[in-house]
Amino acid sequence: MRIFGTSVNAATKITRQYHLLARRLTRMTSHENIGPENTLVGHKTSSVDLGFAGIADGEPLVDVRGLQVHFPVTRGLLKREVGRVKAVDGVSFTIRKGEALGLVGESGSGKSTIARCLLKLTEPTGGTISYCGTDIDQIDRRSIASFRRNVQAIFQDPYSSLNPRMRIGDIIGEPIYVHRIASSTADREKRVQELLDLCGLPRNLAGRYPHEMSGGQRQRVGIARALALNPGFIVCDEPVSALDVSIQAQIINFLEDLRQELGLTYLFIGHDLSVVKNLCDRVAVMYLGKLVELADSEKLFADPRHPYTRALLSAVPIPDPVAEEAREHKILPGEMPSPLNPPPGCVFHPRCDLAYGECRQTAPNFEEQQPQHWVACPVVHAPVQ
Ligand SMILES: Nc1ncnc2c1ncn2[C@@H]1O[C@H](COP(=O)(O)OP(=O)(O)OP(=O)(O)O)[C@@H](O)[C@H]1O
Ligand code: SF4
Ligand SMILES: [Mg+2]
Repeated sequence: MRIFGTSVNAATKITRQYHLLARRLTRMTSHENIGPENTLVGHKTSSVDLGFAGIADGEPLVDVRGLQVHFPVTRGLLKREVGRVKAVDGVSFTIRKGEALGLVGESGSGKSTIARCLLKLTEPTGGTISYCGTDIDQIDRRSIASFRRNVQAIFQDPYSSLNPRMRIGDIIGEPIYVHRIASSTADREKRVQELLDLCGLPRNLAGRYPHEMSGGQRQRVGIARALALNPGFIVCDEPVSALDVSIQAQIINFLEDLRQELGLTYLFIGHDLSVVKNLCDRVAVMYLGKLVELADSEKLFADPRHPYTRALLSAVPIPDPVAEEAREHKILPGEMPSPLNPPPGCVFHPRCDLAYGECRQTAPNFEEQQPQHWVACPVVHAPVQ
């Protein structure tokens, strides 16, 4: 979601939506009585209820099977359904504990919708999402508190996701207060200071407001708030897209350091493929509500198989000007169709230069064509090495 190019009213509305979302995440489960087993920075686990601690690094932490999110489009006073936006249409993947999984794709391909489902902010139309082996749709009332602590989010625009009327110390301390982690105000303040230290922010920022800070500092506050509940899994929805390039690098390095130090797991949504390549162990590519390719980062960037992935990667500039001049750039014709009326068969066929008759009728399976390398295109099937 970008504020550039929108009217002032639209931008204000988006800003409001962002921090309503952030607050909703913090406030949900506030009525739950949460046990004092929570610890803060430096500890790798916080959730006992969901069995987070029992999952070894590299084992599946999040498992998404056949996820569908179809938004009904209604018209008239009676709100008659006239269509469905197929924002996510049959997506399956796993996120392993300790890894950073990248999710890339054009604007409108369904990335944030997946993120919202993983955060339990959007109800899927179909499919399942398991966290620590538990279907998040079936989580009971006590475990939901544990889930909310353990699964956190960092949003694209830090300014919009921070309440402009709250001081930084209160913003970071709010989840600690809501989830009753600190035993006293002094304890809460001490924890806020630890988080400021961890995120490389001066302690005196606690008394300031978001508008008194730079974009990079604001995103660090957003990260500190996400870490306040000592999570295990963080959904990062384009966390650096709104920042200057130099600040982007700092935040990416910081996220990577945090992952190593705290044993965090990320779903990292991004537009900038070079950023995704640097941070993520594996990358999933999305097109019009479907996954088209998923592989280890190095493999995907060295040997992209799906025609859409190839086109995406060919648009990424390389630092060597001679090599950049010499290489072929694949320009995709047209635009991504509307998810309200996706094309039949392979949804990519109207823009694919390899498309043949069958592609217009039959949707390709998302197949493991090589070990740990899934592709939704039978045409580019390479022999197993
Ligand atoms: N609540 C909603 N009601 C109807 N349609 C929606 C809703 N939320 C999202 N969509 C539609 O679903 C599709 C996917 O949206 P989504 O925000 O997930 O895309 P995205 O990949 O995150 O895009 P971007 O890169 O621009 O953030 C878009 O066509 C969007 O208009
Ligand atoms: S299935 Fe057909 S249309 Fe789809 S990516 Fe492969 S070749 Fe292209
Ligand atoms: Mg998005």
